[in-house]
Amino acid sequence: MKLLDGKATAAQIQAELKEAVQARKTAGQKIPHLAAILVGNDGGSVSYVTSKVKACEAIGFESTLIRYDETVPEDILLEKVQRLNEDRSIDGFIVQLPLPKHIDELKITQAIDPKKDVDGFHPRNLGNMILNLPGFLPATPAGIMELLRRNNIETEGKNCVILGRSNIVGTPLSIMLARNTNPGNCTVTLAHSKTKNIKALCREADILIAAIGKPNFVTADMVKDGAVIIDVGTTRVEDSTRERGWRLVGDVKFDEVAEKTSYISPVPGGVGPMTIASLMMNTLKAMELKSK
Ligand code: GUN
Repeated sequence: MKLLDGKATAAQIQAELKEAVQARKTAGQKIPHLAAILVGNDGGSVSYVTSKVKACEAIGFESTLIRYDETVPEDILLEKVQRLNEDRSIDGFIVQLPLPKHIDELKITQAIDPKKDVDGFHPRNLGNMILNLPGFLPATPAGIMELLRRNNIETEGKNCVILGRSNIVGTPLSIMLARNTNPGNCTVTLAHSKTKNIKALCREADILIAAIGKPNFVTADMVKDGAVIIDVGTTRVEDSTRERGWRLVGDVKFDEVAEKTSYISPVPGGVGPMTIASLMMNTLKAMELKSK
């Protein structure tokens, strides 16, 4: 078993980005600027956005964090999105999801200028992705593709099972892995809550990607010998032995599954840092495209 070390791979990418920023500074060019909108105080969202801002600082990007109370009306948020669209100093921005129930996420996502949509959630960017046209790829699936690429994982002709059909992970990833690219060229099965015989299906997977948010869902009896396992789950579970009172648990029962695999990504330190790294890559790209 080899660890798919997202933390180390993301550190490599961050070092490359830091160099690119340094080169721009030396040439007197603009530094990429990412803005993030965070609504409410959900613990997971607060720590994701904090990590994104910290990554900007580490690389040398400028960043702006905009926070709203849980009760912010939808039209105020739409107005802010519009102002960020028009703000020449901002190269890209994200609205952290999920949003409170009274706000229509799709309406907000559609209001973002596709050229600044560094999360790749706008329908135009998702459409471009399907047609393999230039655009922004959603950060988590793009991070997984980069993790596979940089660790030389062979994907061509492999049987890939993805658990979970979310708009931000499972659905876009199923398209990216099936494309005629490297990584890619997989035969993909997108499994979900209505899928029958899920255990048997997983046992057929050369590459198994779990993105359902159910802690320890994937057990050793669901895994083929030598499979590649990517764990996208990040559920907070109570843990009184930790000072902060919780720990992150993935969708895969790592301790019993790891020994059967050829490669496995851990939680934490797997997909999470790669998501942030691909958001940073998209931000640099947004700025470069703007100056063309
Ligand atoms: N919520 C969970 N993952 C993401 C992400 O990649 N971007 C945003 N904006 N919200 C998320």
